[in-house]
Amino acid sequence: MIYSRNRRLRTGASIRSLVQENSLSVNDFVMPVFVMEGENRQEAISSMPGIFRRSIDLTVKECRELFTLGVKAVNLYMKVSEELKDNTGKEAWNSNGLMQNTIRAIKDAVPEMVIMPDVALDPYSIYGHDGIIENGKIANDKTNEALAKMSVSLAEAGADIVAPSDMMDGRVLAIREALEENGFHDVGILSYGAKYASSFYGPFRSALDSAPKENADIPKDKKTYQMDFHNSREALNEVFKDVEEGADIIMIKPGLPYLDIVAKVREAIDLPIAVFNVSGEYAMLKAAAQNGWLDNDRAIIESLTCFKRAGADMIFTYAAKEAAMILGR
Ligand code: PBG
Repeated sequence: MIYSRNRRLRTGASIRSLVQENSLSVNDFVMPVFVMEGENRQEAISSMPGIFRRSIDLTVKECRELFTLGVKAVNLYMKVSEELKDNTGKEAWNSNGLMQNTIRAIKDAVPEMVIMPDVALDPYSIYGHDGIIENGKIANDKTNEALAKMSVSLAEAGADIVAPSDMMDGRVLAIREALEENGFHDVGILSYGAKYASSFYGPFRSALDSAPKENADIPKDKKTYQMDFHNSREALNEVFKDVEEGADIIMIKPGLPYLDIVAKVREAIDLPIAVFNVSGEYAMLKAAAQNGWLDNDRAIIESLTCFKRAGADMIFTYAAKEAAMILGR
């Protein structure tokens, strides 16, 4: 005789909703947004169906729509003109730069929107690296100085939370100190605690034209700073350092192939955890959906819910707007 039947609690939608352990809502989403120069311009990113690079005016319009749908945070990325790139990344702290102007325009139009600009040098680097290159290597501490300057400049423009994605050692402390010295006590740091050197960033790099350049004198990939995907314990070591240095939120990236890391970090820390459902994950889902191999809406909701189940508090996803619309139906 069987007395324990797990299926009893699955017999109908109502009982299933009572025993449901996790839920997904629009409050969980952060939308990554690509910005470019110009006016009334928008360009589709071919490897990311439904995602565009937009000029500031259209970005503001998009932010209004996002906010109306309930998406209350955006993560900003700039397509920087080639002539503004160099090895120092100095355009990153130009108070009149594209990022700074974008932040001001969004703040002005949608003051309640939480603005989280990306902090890293790759879109500003002639080499496509997240740091400054010296003698063929990424110079850690010099890069930290640049990231601190960039963060202060973004805070001056109105950023709410800076999001360093570069994986230099000690950059959270360098940024925190610079923000405090400049009076930005309330500007937070969302730190990419564990960011892996991943092939899933491919579509993003083509969207910004920010892939490491082919050049024998510089590292051809980001493996000297981003983590090795074979490793798990190392993620905790990275995360604990960022917590100690003063991070407010910890990011795990990529997302779907790294849910074990999300769950492990969830067990280890009490700070909010963000996860990045990166460009390659989005591209895979869209490619399958466009071929009729997956149900687009159901696959999006399922995969985003899995991030919540793993323990994430917020999800950076290119599907944020679409998911908000699906959840709102
Ligand atoms: C750069 C950065 C990357 C992403 C976010 N910030 C690419 C990289 O590290 O090379 C990837 C985002 C995505 O793929 O969606 N610092």
